[in-house]
Amino acid sequence: MAETILVTGATGYIGSHTCVCLLKAGWRVVAVDNLSNSSEKTIDRIQIICKQELPFHLIDVRDESALMRLLSQENISAAIHFAGLKSVSESVSKPLDYYDNNVTGSITLLKVLHQHGVRKLVFSSSATVYGEPTQVPIAENASLSATNPYGRSKLFVEQIVNDLSEADAEWRIATLRYFNPAGAHESGLLGEDPRGQPNNLMPYIAQVAVGKLPHLSVFGNDYPTSDGTGVRDYIHVMDLAQGHLSALSRLYSRAGSCTVNLGTGQGVTVLQAVAAFEKACGASIPITVAPRRAGDIATCYASANKAKELLNWKAEKTLLQMVNDHWRWQKQNPNGY
Ligand code: NAD
Ligand code: WQD
Repeated sequence: MAETILVTGATGYIGSHTCVCLLKAGWRVVAVDNLSNSSEKTIDRIQIICKQELPFHLIDVRDESALMRLLSQENISAAIHFAGLKSVSESVSKPLDYYDNNVTGSITLLKVLHQHGVRKLVFSSSATVYGEPTQVPIAENASLSATNPYGRSKLFVEQIVNDLSEADAEWRIATLRYFNPAGAHESGLLGEDPRGQPNNLMPYIAQVAVGKLPHLSVFGNDYPTSDGTGVRDYIHVMDLAQGHLSALSRLYSRAGSCTVNLGTGQGVTVLQAVAAFEKACGASIPITVAPRRAGDIATCYASANKAKELLNWKAEKTLLQMVNDHWRWQKQNPNGY
């Protein structure tokens, strides 16, 4: 009998792709989301891709009694916790929403898991916890800081799960720090579907390519980088999803907790990302140079060594595969789900 994994935030961008990988690999999945930033149609699409049922529960992770009921019904043995809010700018204007969703939501989930004897968790953290890095590639032992409520909410939860692992050696927690997820499932059925105008580079470029937005504003071309534009570590969402399966396997096979970067180890500039996308869509992406965006850093990319050592995982897909898949998703779903 397959182990059952609770996936919170399952209808979101990374959660939905991870559900596909889990189901394909033979895990049983129970999906939870409050649909605050996603569509239930994702569940249908996952079921089409995987040709199997995915039980979905409309639950807010802050709702302790709903989670208690669910865990009484289902024989869950581990959880992957994606549920949370993720916009840096929104977190500045709505800090309480961010602390409540991301911190209270995580504490509530941890309490319910604990009460049901579940001691295995994969937690979605972010490269944002490195703040302004003093050195690249960024290793997991680099200093941590945050300049906005979103980043602080991730730092707080990292600290909470570390304290929990210290207090109770039964807990096995993998904290995964994602770099910049991009791309989509190769079927074109699943992808990122931001509400309103996208904040992040790849979905913004994709909406320019499909004609929904007139041009991309490049935020600064005077950074100390090869072409003056910001450098990031874009990672294919299916590689990222696979990283969760590797983390899960580790939790089932050995005691202890770990904190691991999920990135490619390669930096890509904004202009390189635009050029790759132009190749994918066969058209030019109009750009204008705009001032630097407040809070942006010049360069951020991962050291991917610890993921290889601890999880036996590394990103496999190229930038071109990422933009091709992103474009297929955008073209087939110009208005999202
Ligand atoms: P997403 O918004 O697409 O998915 C998050 C999901 O959580 C959404 O479906 C949303 O409806 C749900 N959700 C939010 N609050 C909830 C609550 N209280 N109860 C139940 N469901 C709730 O975002 P994503 O890109 O898939 O990110 C998943 C996780 O990874 C988040 O925790 C995010 O902070 C983290 N992360 C994302 C990125 C990124 O750039 N996408 C980078 C690093 C870390
Ligand atoms: C990438 C590069 C921009 C948009 C943010 C969050 C971070 C994380 C991922 C969750 C930068 C440039 C962007 C545009 C541009 N999320 N850019 N024009 O800034 O690395 O990270 O999302 O944890 O917390 O801070 O990603 O995609 O916004 O930007 O020129 O319209 O593209 O300046 O150099 P970022 P991004």
